[in-house]
This record gives sequence, structure tokens and C-alpha cells, in this order.
Amino acid sequence: MKTIKNKIEHLRKDLLKYQYYYHTLNESIISDAEYDYLLNQLYILERKNKNFITDDSPTQKIGSNLTDKFKKILHFFPMLSLENTFDFNGYLEFEKRIKKNIDTKKKINFCCELKIDGIAISLIYEKGIFIRAATRGDGYKGENITSNAKMIKSIPLKLKGSNIPERLEVRGEVFMLKSDFLRLNEKSRINKIKMFSNPRNAAAGSLRHLDSNITDKRKLIFSCYGCYFFKDFKTIKNISTHYKRLMQCLKWGFPINQEIIRCSNHQEVFNFYNKFKKKRNLLDFDIDGIVVKVDSIDLQKKLGCNSKFPKWAIALKFFSSQQTTKLQDVKFQVGRTGVITPVAYFNPVYISGVKIKKASLYNKNEIEKLNLHIGDSIVICRSGDVIPKILNVVNSTRFNNSKKVVFPVLCPFCDTKLLENKEEKIIRCHAGLTCDAQKKRSFYHFFSKKSFNVIGLGPNIINELIEKRLVQNPVDFFSLTDLDLITLKNVGRKKSVNIINSLKRCRTITFKRFIYALGIPNVGEVFAEKIANHFINLNKLVCASITELNNISGIGKVIANNIFNYFSVSVNYDMVYKLENKIKIIWNDPNTVIKNQKKTYFFNKKIVLTGVFDSFSRHQLKIILSNLGAKILNSVSKNTDILIYGKNFGSKFFKAKNLNIEMINEKQLNLLI
Ligand code: IVH
Repeated sequence: MKTIKNKIEHLRKDLLKYQYYYHTLNESIISDAEYDYLLNQLYILERKNKNFITDDSPTQKIGSNLTDKFKKILHFFPMLSLENTFDFNGYLEFEKRIKKNIDTKKKINFCCELKIDGIAISLIYEKGIFIRAATRGDGYKGENITSNAKMIKSIPLKLKGSNIPERLEVRGEVFMLKSDFLRLNEKSRINKIKMFSNPRNAAAGSLRHLDSNITDKRKLIFSCYGCYFFKDFKTIKNISTHYKRLMQCLKWGFPINQEIIRCSNHQEVFNFYNKFKKKRNLLDFDIDGIVVKVDSIDLQKKLGCNSKFPKWAIALKFFSSQQTTKLQDVKFQVGRTGVITPVAYFNPVYISGVKIKKASLYNKNEIEKLNLHIGDSIVICRSGDVIPKILNVVNSTRFNNSKKVVFPVLCPFCDTKLLENKEEKIIRCHAGLTCDAQKKRSFYHFFSKKSFNVIGLGPNIINELIEKRLVQNPVDFFSLTDLDLITLKNVGRKKSVNIINSLKRCRTITFKRFIYALGIPNVGEVFAEKIANHFINLNKLVCASITELNNISGIGKVIANNIFNYFSVSVNYDMVYKLENKIKIIWNDPNTVIKNQKKTYFFNKKIVLTGVFDSFSRHQLKIILSNLGAKILNSVSKNTDILIYGKNFGSKFFKAKNLNIEMINEKQLNLLI
């Protein structure tokens, strides 16, 4: 129980800190999506543990922006916040709750509006004259920003038209256009003054500035989304719905965003939501969702409010498809095949509900295209809705002294000079197994499930074996004992015996898996199989020319070159032959081998070998033939089925001829295999 209490307190403390930055300092130190996510976590925990709820919890109170900068004003009606949902189910539950609350099965009309991402303000008019303006503050008390609000051109100082109420309160959002925000930041960059991280923060900073001349210079816009009449409410006829009230506000001279629709079913609501989810990036102002409100004022009154939200409205929010964050670092990873991949690390952001803190930068071109500098404001998205990607850099927020990201000249792990392959657009460290980073990754691959499939030999054990210099290349693993393994962290007797047993079992391996395990660049499972099907033994593969490799159906120039280059490196060449002595390569999976052997020419044949062969050693030939189901005998008798002869054959040749036994030379043998 203590841990749940701690968790709740921890979340609460963090959320209050984020609120302070957001509302008071006009700075976002985490994204809105992340804030909503954490707040929701706190809700869930508090709902299950009601005794831990406190009055100051962010779940019970509206975020406050009260500072000592401005005089306080008591709101006539509390300025509440909105309940949030990110999915249609959440919306359907909201509708269900409403119908249950007012006990009706009848259709309810809703009004859908855009949820503009700015700052909520309240404006008071008496006899049609602008009297005062306030921010939301803590929902009950706000900051008096009257002189600043007077500077916003779209806020009327005197109402137009007829039916002007004795006293009117209008509420709405103050915001800044994205284009104006970029221009403002560009100016601030040139003048070396504080820049804002997004249009919302820029609008908040400008609205809550002590010098109203500054507010005047910043291009702020007001958009009205609601109003309240006081005593003379009843005297104003035909204003029984939210929509009609907004239209009346429009007549009085308040700007209303024109994207408003009235819906009588949830499908219309979802269509409106989907339309703006697609269109939002094309708008010149930020929206973070839509707001759906019960249209009838009578029903709104019946439904009422709780301490935070009205029960007649909900925000159906968009998962942010893009987020702006700060680039912390770029690290250069060395892959198994030596390819250097730059990876960007940034302050975490939530995109489509997933926390993201790094993204691959693919190659040198990408870094140059983005012209990245440490500390840059970067825009992150999820390419194809999955892979994190840096879309672009907000250049205007960069300071002159920030450090440019440059691709290294030397391998960050072993200092070997990096070489660029312009055709493949990649840069590689060619140190192979002498580079520790590549060594680690190639060993993981070598013993992984699709390769040698050694159970229990995970990355931590492999790293420690390398660090303790117990293994230098894959061959060394086959000489390990359980006593070597038991010296490692977290490896007990049982585990070490299991690993050693698995290392013994994996010694019989198919040619396809063996080729895949070598980790030759671009040779995945499919290509490994094509190659295994082509070559009758390992030696033929090791000695194959680029042309021969390229002639294999499906093997292109790049892969042919990679295979040729791999076996041209003496370390690889030696390792492969040393391995061949430790393991047994078979051409098929043990389960299917017998079935396939039956289809071969040599199945169940008693065979004798004589002479020397160009393509294979005697040892290799014996393995190939026995893999094909043949029985190899040492001397010729009348029971022998076939004699296979090479150059410089001996007496077995003549004996077989006398006994009329089938004779096969090396050329015929190659064709039959
Ligand atoms: S209605 C009591 N309508 O969203 C309900 N709010 O997250 C009052 N907002 O504080 C809000 N566009 O600042 C409403 N069309 C809209 C809105 C809107 C943006 C803001 C507003 C509110 C916040 C709640």
C-alpha cells in the first residue's frame, strides 16, 4: 500500500510542477499528450484508492496560472475545464451518461466546434461596453488582463446591433497564428531574446505581459466559444440553444470560428472529428481536438457540472501526430556488419499514445539534409504511424553557438577509419571482429534462434565473455566449459550446464542456417537458402568467384560482392575452416533429411572412392555422400554398387572394372550431386 501512496504522491508532485511551468511560466516542459497521460494514470490510481485523494490533487483542481503580476478578479461563474477523451468509445460513454442522467431515450442535439489551442479568457460587457477581461486562473479567481485584452483587435470594445444585455460575459480562446509565431521567433532569434516553443506559449506570454504595448505588437486573435447573460436573460427571446447564442454573439461583433456544426447522431460527430484530424496540419492555427456540447441550454442546466467539468461537454482530442521537442544528443551505433547508424536522442514525447525518446537518422545524407545542431527544436512524427522519424528542424529557435552534428571519420568504438559506400549510401567500419561493437552484435546473431539457436546465451552473457576475453570469435564458444560460464554474473551451475549442452546440440547445423549465422551483409534467411541450395559444399562457397555468385538466380551484384569480400578477409576465412572442424554441416533439417535422401541417386548405395578430386577433399566428399543417403565403404567387392574415381586412381579402379561395377568420374559426380 505504501508504494501506491508513494506513486500517487510522486505523480501529483510532477503534475503540479508541469502545471506551474505551463500556466505560470508559459513554458511546456512536457507535451500535452504526456501531461494528459500522466493525469489519467493519477485518476485511475485515485479511483481505486479513494482515501489517498487530496484537495490539492490536479484531478480535483483546475490548473492555475495565478501570479502576483496581475490583480485578481473573482469570476461571476466558475471557469471550468473540459473532460477529455481520445477515442470514440470514450465519446459514446459520454453520450450514454447524459441520456442516463436526464433519463431520456430521445435524440439529443449536439454542437461540435474546433478546440483551438490557446488561452481561455473571460470578457465582461456592461450596457454593451467592454469593462474587464480575466484569465481562467484557478477557475474561480483569474488575473485582470483588461488593458492587454484592449490591445487585441478582434475583441470589440463596444457591441454592435440590438438586444444588448445589461451585463454579458463572453468566453473564448486567445491564440496566435502559426505563421505569426514563426515570424515572432525569427525576430527574437535575431535580437537574441527568449523564443517560444509553440504558438500557444507565445500567445500566453504575450497576453500575460506586464507591458500592454507588447501585447499590442504581438498579433493575438480572439475566438468566442460561449456566453452568459445575467438578470435580463429571460428578456432575450429565442436564445434557447448554444448554437443560437453563438450566432447572437457574432451579431454583436465577436469573432466565432466558422467550423461549427450541429449533430443529431454520433456518426456526424465522428465525421466532423475525422475531417479535422486530417485537415489540422493545413490550418494556420493549432487545434488539439474538437469540443462537443449539448446544444439545448435547458438540458445543459439539468446536467450541471462537477467541480472540474460541465457534464454537458467533452473534448474529443486528437492524438498528436507530430510533436516538437529538443534534440539532446546524436549517438553513432555500430551494427553487426559495421554499418554506422546515427541515432537521435531527444526529450521524450508522446505520439499516438506511445512514448518516444529516440529516432534513427539512417545515414549521413539525412543528417546533412536536416542540418542538425544539438539543442535544436525538432519535429517528430511516426512514419507509417509506427517508426519514429525527425520530420524537420525549427531553425528559427536555434542559437548561434549550438554544436553542429557531424558524421565521425573514425569508428566510435575502435577508431578504425570509416569508409563510405556511395552506391549503398552507407558508411562502415571494416574492422570486423576486431571491433568490439561488431563482435558483440555478430556473436548475438551467430547464436540467435535462426542461426545456431543456442538457448540461454543472451547478450549479457556474451558481453561478459567478450569482456573477460574468454571468447575472441565464434569458434571459441565451442571450447567453453561449464566452469568458465559459472564465473559469470547471474550464471549458476544449472544455467551453465544448460548452455554447454545447447552448445553441443547445435553443432549439427543445416548449411542454410550456417550461412545465415555468418552474418554476411545483406544475406538474410532467404538469400542464405538460395546459396545453400546452390553449393554442394562449404569449400565451393568459400572459393566462389563474384561471377559465379552473381549467376545464382536471385543473387544480385551487391550480395555477390559482399559474399566474395567476406571470404576474402583472412580472419573470416580462417574462422570458417576452424568452425568446420568443430561442427557438422548438413544440407537439410534432420527431420526432412531422410525423406529427401530417398529422392537422390545415391540413396542406400554402397560406394567406394579412389583417386584425388578437384572440387572436394575425401573427407568432404564422404560427408556429402552420406548426407545423400549413401554408405561409404573402403574396399571394392561384388556387393559394391558404385565406384567414384578421381585423378591418379589406384587398384580399386581396375578391380571394379573387372567386377562390372558402375563407375562415375568427378564430372559425372558433380552433375549427379
Ligand atoms: S468550452 C466549460 N469550447 O479548452 C467549458 N473550450 O481543455 C468551457 N477550448 O478551457 C470550454 N476551444 O480554453 C470550449 N470550442 C471550445 C474551445 C474550448 C478551446 C479550451 C478552453 C478550455 C479548454 C479545456
